[in-house]
Amino acid sequence: MSNIISLTSVTKRFPVGDGEFTALKNINLNVEKGEFSGLVGPSGSGKTTLLNIIGSLDKPTEGQAIVMGKDIAKLTHKESARLRNEHIGFIFQVYNLLPVYTVFENVEFALLLQDYTKAQRKKAVMEALDWVGLASMANKKPSKLSGGEGQRVSIARAIVKRPVILLADEPTANLDAENAHGILKIMKRLNQELDTTFLFSTHDEKVMSYLNRIIHLRDGQIEQDEQITAKSASS
Ligand SMILES: Nc1ncnc2c1ncn2[C@@H]1O[C@H](COP(=O)(O)OP(=O)(O)O)[C@@H](O)[C@H]1O
Ligand SMILES: [Mg+2]
Repeated sequence: MSNIISLTSVTKRFPVGDGEFTALKNINLNVEKGEFSGLVGPSGSGKTTLLNIIGSLDKPTEGQAIVMGKDIAKLTHKESARLRNEHIGFIFQVYNLLPVYTVFENVEFALLLQDYTKAQRKKAVMEALDWVGLASMANKKPSKLSGGEGQRVSIARAIVKRPVILLADEPTANLDAENAHGILKIMKRLNQELDTTFLFSTHDEKVMSYLNRIIHLRDGQIEQDEQITAKSASS
C-alpha cells in the first residue's frame, strides 16, 4: 500500500442559505509516501477544503477518502483525533503560537497527550527545534521571534511527533522571499531525510519551484496533475 492518500470521486458541498455550494467536485487523487506535492489554484478553488478532508478535520459529502488506510467518512470524532495525533502534522498560514509559553513549551504541547517521559519530550522537542535551526531560541517567547522564525517553530511543532504526512496550507503566504525559501529548504530536507510526505496548498511561485508534483485545482476540480522532473525538484 504505497498510496497513503487515496481519494475517489470526492465531492464536498456546504450549506449556504437555502441551498448549497459545491466546493469540491468528483476529485480523484492518489498520493504516495514520500511525495512533495502541492495543490495549486486561485483563492476559492477548494485547496483548504481538500486539505481539511485529507487531514480528517472534515468529511466528504460523497465519495471516498482513504488516508493511512482509514476511511475518513467513517471515523468517529475520537478516531479522527487519533489519526491526526499519530500520523498527520499541520502547518498553517497563520501559525498561532501560544504567546505566554516559550518556544520549547509551544512545541512540547503536541507531546503532552502522548506517553512520553519528560526526558523523552525534551529530546524530541530539541531535535525538532534543531531541524528548524532554532534550538538556541528554546526559552524565548514567541513575541521575540520574527515572522520567519515563528513559522519555523510551527514546523517544529508539526514534526515533533514525526508524522507520516505533513499538510501545509499556504505556509509562505505571510513570509518575505528569504524566509519563504528558508522554510521550503527545511521542508525539502525533512522530506528527503525523514521521508515525510508533504502536501501543500499554495499559489506562491516560490513554493511551486520546489514541488515534485503540482495538482492544479480550479472551481473544485482537478484541472491538471503535473509531474515535475526538473533537476531542482527531483534532486
Ligand atoms: N464552511 C463553508 N461554508 C460555505 N462555503 C465554504 C465553506 N468553506 C469553504 N467554502 C467555500 O468553498 C470554496 C472553496 O474554499 P477553500 O477550500 O477555502 O478555497 P481555497 O483554500 O482554495 O481558497 C470557496 O468558495 C469558499 O467560500
Ligand atoms: Mg485556503
